[in-house]
Amino acid sequence: MNPESIEIRAARPDDRPAIHALLTAAFGAEEAPRIVQLVDEALEDPSARPLLSLVAVDGTRVLGHILFTRAEVDTGGEPLAASLLAPMAVHPEVQGQGIGGRLIAAGLEALEAMDVGLVFVLGHPGYYPRSGFEPAGRHGLSAPYPIPDEHAAAWMVKVLRSGLLGQVTGRVRCAAALDHGDLWVE
Ligand SMILES: CC(C)(COP(=O)(O)OP(=O)(O)OC[C@H]1O[C@@H](n2cnc3c(N)ncnc32)[C@H](O)[C@@H]1OP(=O)(O)O)[C@@H](O)C(=O)NCCC(=O)NCCS
Repeated sequence: MNPESIEIRAARPDDRPAIHALLTAAFGAEEAPRIVQLVDEALEDPSARPLLSLVAVDGTRVLGHILFTRAEVDTGGEPLAASLLAPMAVHPEVQGQGIGGRLIAAGLEALEAMDVGLVFVLGHPGYYPRSGFEPAGRHGLSAPYPIPDEHAAAWMVKVLRSGLLGQVTGRVRCAAALDHGDLWVE
């Protein structure tokens, strides 16, 4: 694969079957159905908007997908609009070639342009810091569902607007489609 031939663009409604197939290849038959359901529900969920669904395509083949949904920090006063990265997937045949990093970067750039200040993820603590994410809990930003201490590093934040870390604290609320405890297990 020539990395230069990969284009990152907004997902279209007719990409849905290819995104399902990609999620199945990336997450495996056991885990994928729940992830497919989550993505389908999020794409129809008004509380998830503004939403960003991006695909990485090589010609017509969907090789990667990333979803960002609306979140907010419950500060106790005016809630702060934020975004949540979940899920993302790259086809196993082309993993490790930078496509995931490009999907994250494209998403963060678009969210910054939308004036989103904080982006959250519950994920691999060895992966997302490559894209500038850092542990969120230590900054007083807690996840929608409790994360056990041994997995605390998996709850991360990326700051897109300076001056927010340490100033804004509270629990993060996510869209209805993601507001299920079984999705918050790392
Ligand atoms: C996680 C995932 C999206 C990364 O996509 P990718 O295109 O392979 O990522 P990149 O090419 O940008 O980065 C690859 C690097 O990240 C590392 N990496 C990938 N997954 C990692 C993980 N779980 N923990 C730590 N490092 C990881 C790779 O080892 C590689 O390291 P290298 O550059 O030193 O060789 C992809 O592996 C995937 O789809 N996995 C299955 C689904 C999944 O777990 N999704 C994330 C949770 S929602």
